[in-house]
Amino acid sequence: MSVDPKNMTHHVAMRDGLPAVIRPTLLEESQQDWQAHPRFAGKARFFMNIHRQLLNGADWVAATTETLLDVPDDDLVDQIDTLQLGQRAAHLLQFAHGHHEIEDHGYFPQFIRLYPNLEQAMTLLDGDHQVLDETLGGIETSLATTLQTPNRDTLAGLQRNAAVLRKIMHRHITDEEEVIIPIFLRHG
Ligand SMILES: [Fe+2]
Ligand SMILES: [Fe+2]
Repeated sequence: MSVDPKNMTHHVAMRDGLPAVIRPTLLEESQQDWQAHPRFAGKARFFMNIHRQLLNGADWVAATTETLLDVPDDDLVDQIDTLQLGQRAAHLLQFAHGHHEIEDHGYFPQFIRLYPNLEQAMTLLDGDHQVLDETLGGIETSLATTLQTPNRDTLAGLQRNAAVLRKIMHRHITDEEEVIIPIFLRHG
């Protein structure tokens, strides 16, 4: 069976790891202790740092919006300001879109040229980016609504989107690193 991002079993919100069909196409470095590899200090560590920042950002927005749901409507504006929800969420959106853009247009086509067997893995990750970008779009809209009209209902909408983002961001990044970190370990 080949990878089809529209197939729900391969969907980033539904799967619990890389599809079995992709496993045999991975480079053997997938099994290694990445941090012990002599070339870890190059792009591998750089990408993993970016990924940790994205995960921390997604975790923070999901947890913060959840906490804000317990704040009375009268105090909500102050709390949103104090926590800098607008600025921090906007930063995450921009950072995530930028990162996907660099992967889709720079790295992924390069990886397929180097390792044609990885085409299915790249199709999967590219499909994930589309779902992630749609979810980021949903957050952008619900964030604007919440900042304009801060109340429990608007915040609940933002929180639902943020919870979805947290879940799929973790799935995507775990699977993506299994595919791409070994490539960086080979090429520095
Ligand atoms: Fe990435
Ligand atoms: Fe990615």
